[in-house]
Amino acid sequence: MQPVWPRGDKMWLWLGVLLTLSLCASVEGQQENPFTINSIRMESLPAWTVPNGQNLTLQCIVDISTTSEVRPQHLVRFYKDDIMIYNTSSAKDTESFFIPQARMYHSGKYKCTVTLSNKEKTTKEYGVLVKGLPSPKVMLDKKEVVEGGVVTVNCSVEEERAPINFKIEKLLMDTKTVKQTRQKMSTNQNFMVIEFPIEEQDHIVLFRCQAMIYSGFQVETSAATRSELVTVRESFSIPKFHISPEGMITEGDQLLIKCTIQVTYQAPEFPEIIILKDKNIVAHSSHGSEATYSVMAMVEHNGNYTCKVESSRIAKLSSILVNITELFSKPKLESSTTLLDEGERLSLWCTIPGAPPGNFTIQKGNVTIAQAQNLTLVTSEWDSGPYTCTATISNVVKRSNVVRITVCEMLSQPKIFHDTSLEVIKGQTVRIHCQSVNGTGPITYRLLKARKVLQSHQTHSNGPVVFKDNPTKDAEYQCIADNCHSHPEMISEVLKVKVVAPVDEVKLTIQMNGEVESGQDMVLRCLVNEASPPITYNFYKENEDRPFYYTTINNTQATWHKPQASKEQEGQYYCTAFNRANRARIVPQSNVLPVRVFLAPWKKGLIAVVVIGVIIATLVLGARCYFLKKAKAKQIPVEMSRPAVPLLNSNNEKIASDPNIEANSHYGYNEDVGNHAIKPVNENKELLDLDVEYTEVEVTSPEPHRALESKGTETVYSEIRKADPENGKLP
Ligand SMILES: *[C@@H]1O[C@H](CO)[C@@H](O)[C@H](O)[C@H]1NC(C)=O
Ligand SMILES: *[C@@H]1O[C@H](CO)[C@@H](O)[C@H](O)[C@H]1NC(C)=O
Ligand SMILES: *[C@@H]1O[C@H](CO)[C@@H](O)[C@H](O)[C@H]1NC(C)=O
Ligand SMILES: *[C@@H]1O[C@H](CO)[C@@H](O)[C@H](O)[C@H]1NC(C)=O
Ligand SMILES: *[C@@H]1O[C@H](CO)[C@@H](O)[C@H](O)[C@H]1NC(C)=O
Ligand SMILES: *[C@@H]1O[C@H](CO)[C@@H](O)[C@H](O)[C@H]1NC(C)=O
Ligand SMILES: *[C@@H]1O[C@H](CO)[C@@H](O)[C@H](O)[C@H]1NC(C)=O
Ligand SMILES: *[C@@H]1O[C@H](CO)[C@@H](O)[C@H](O)[C@H]1NC(C)=O
Ligand SMILES: *[C@@H]1O[C@H](CO)[C@@H](O)[C@H](O)[C@H]1NC(C)=O
Ligand SMILES: *[C@@H]1O[C@H](CO)[C@@H](O)[C@H](O)[C@H]1NC(C)=O
Repeated sequence: MQPVWPRGDKMWLWLGVLLTLSLCASVEGQQENPFTINSIRMESLPAWTVPNGQNLTLQCIVDISTTSEVRPQHLVRFYKDDIMIYNTSSAKDTESFFIPQARMYHSGKYKCTVTLSNKEKTTKEYGVLVKGLPSPKVMLDKKEVVEGGVVTVNCSVEEERAPINFKIEKLLMDTKTVKQTRQKMSTNQNFMVIEFPIEEQDHIVLFRCQAMIYSGFQVETSAATRSELVTVRESFSIPKFHISPEGMITEGDQLLIKCTIQVTYQAPEFPEIIILKDKNIVAHSSHGSEATYSVMAMVEHNGNYTCKVESSRIAKLSSILVNITELFSKPKLESSTTLLDEGERLSLWCTIPGAPPGNFTIQKGNVTIAQAQNLTLVTSEWDSGPYTCTATISNVVKRSNVVRITVCEMLSQPKIFHDTSLEVIKGQTVRIHCQSVNGTGPITYRLLKARKVLQSHQTHSNGPVVFKDNPTKDAEYQCIADNCHSHPEMISEVLKVKVVAPVDEVKLTIQMNGEVESGQDMVLRCLVNEASPPITYNFYKENEDRPFYYTTINNTQATWHKPQASKEQEGQYYCTAFNRANRARIVPQSNVLPVRVFLAPWKKGLIAVVVIGVIIATLVLGARCYFLKKAKAKQIPVEMSRPAVPLLNSNNEKIASDPNIEANSHYGYNEDVGNHAIKPVNENKELLDLDVEYTEVEVTSPEPHRALESKGTETVYSEIRKADPENGKLP
């Protein structure tokens, strides 16, 4: 905002200097002359609201009281929207600020201030409103344009300041319709330049511009200004179709669809011409004024054809409906059947509805196999496939529907096999293959195991199918194959699969709980689960690295036999067993079995008798010597020697019982086994000494002893019976 100085700058400068000097003088004088500012206000001429373009004068009127005769010089300032726009030093009551041709941008809040010495007074704010907006100016860069070109429109409001909103419209002269509208805000210029493209069918165009200013509290819209007229020249004409032959078109006719245009001399290049039939391009030309589509007319060529002519910016199109009359209907191929066995007869026949005379061919795939209407053949596997026929009348060829024929070859007997190079170990997977070398797919295979269907599998090839199974014991498998052939399903031979069971449980046993009488037989038996033979057994005595006995036999148990066991055989025993299925595994080991060898009771008895005999003999001898000495010295009563007799008696009884024990021992084991069964095995070392004492007690009470004997004998006997048949199996 620039204040407008009513007079020349130089003069004002000069006046300013003078005023400043006189102000200094008056300030000195004011000290004697008191003053006061009574009031200050503003006036606007002609009004506070003025039409756009009118001269406007703003006045600041002050009323100052003073005793001086000379009016004091005071400073007057004008503000618009709190920004100072004009100041002056004056001694007058009224100061003016002149705005020539007020514009929208002069609208705002005005006030003025008066300053005298150290006193200042300001008016309230006065609103100035400038109404209306001058019509914009519209300028075009050309008066004549070719389709596809552009017209540059410059719309301006020179009197006003930015920001200005411009609305420019493109109108068609003939229809008076608005073709395009652009609206844009110019933020730093008071004009707007916009390019408008010229499209096809824009014969004569003109432009219309309107300006709009939003200023704080008001919106002003200008009247619309129209531009001059612009003449649009065609670059090429609307395309035109030419169809030949004219009139009715019948199948077999040569159909010609031509699209032509006329190009004006101004066009820089030939546009592209495209003929479309339902979105498919059938012909095109980029360097000429026509495009042609030529084809032998068929019903398929019926439809809506569109000719589209395109240059970079414009496209013109026209369309036409082509209607071709059918000469004869599509032929129909029929067959006696679509699925048949190899060797059966197949008949195919081709007909045209309405049966007009024509020439026929029959095709399999795209190979012609017969120049006839009908065909009968004895089928082989190779005759499967898609069949069609064609019918020809004059030069019109039509193809029929497709008939799919499947000729089924009979299946050969399926083979069943598995990889025999690998033994089937229990728990592992066996892969069983089934294959029918001949026969049309798809082939369905079923795997039987023990005459029950285990799995089924379908394949489209003649290759083998693989079934997986985990047999736990020997099994018999069979395959059943079936396909489309009418022959019933085919069954394979039986495949026997032997399953090798590994050794996984080993047990070592001995007769009589590990109590062996010295001199008797000792039999160790190593037993395994139902593992596959041959099985290798190893017998170990504890703390020895090497087995003392080993054997490989076709049996689930092995025995080791030691006749006449002695104290040497006492100890801890175990065995191991394995077969070929244990190869990769740990060789299983049995329990540890303690074995004790003890002396037979009759031997102990015999020793005892000998010892007692010796003692008695010694006593008798001693007594005799004593009596002989006494007899010689004095006569002593004979009764004193009596106690020796019962001793001898008891000794006799003991001897008498001995044959019994001996007789029992012939059966193998005596009562000692029964008696000692409850004894802990670890006491072995002390057994001999203890047995001697124990035997003496037995002598005094033979009756309960007998009962035990018989019991012990029975137990042993039954165990021997059990062991016998097993021993019989041994090699
Ligand atoms: C407006 O003021 C100018 C001088 O600034 C003057 O020439 C013109 O005649 C005035 N217009 C009217 C309508 O008073
Ligand atoms: C008036 O304003 C101008 C520019 O703002 C300034 O240089 C000048 O000193 C002012 N005059 C007075 C008398 O205050
Ligand atoms: C548009 O018109 C205005 C006023 O006539 C002018 O100042 C401006 O330069 C023009 N702009 C262009 C791009 O021609
Ligand atoms: C032919 O296609 C054009 C373009 O899709 C379409 O404008 C016109 O209406 C169609 N004419 C007829 C007769 O269907
Ligand atoms: C084509 O022409 C036949 C007669 O010639 C008429 O019956 C048929 O409706 C026409 N088809 C179309 C799509 O116009
Ligand atoms: C069938 O073909 C023969 C020989 O090519 C031709 O002479 C005859 O006119 C044809 N018939 C029809 C109905 O097209
Ligand atoms: C027949 O069709 C097959 C594939 O569909 C193609 O490879 C072969 O070239 C065609 N033969 C002829 C004679 O057209
Ligand atoms: C073809 O077969 C159809 C039906 O079997 C029969 O009507 C027709 O006469 C046969 N045509 C010829 C040429 O053998
Ligand atoms: C499979 O068919 C061929 C030829 O058809 C024949 O030579 C062969 O013996 C057949 N094989 C079996 C296993 O039937
Ligand atoms: C175990 O049986 C197989 C076959 O039955 C035989 O060949 C082999 O000699 C037998 N082995 C022994 C140790 O008897």
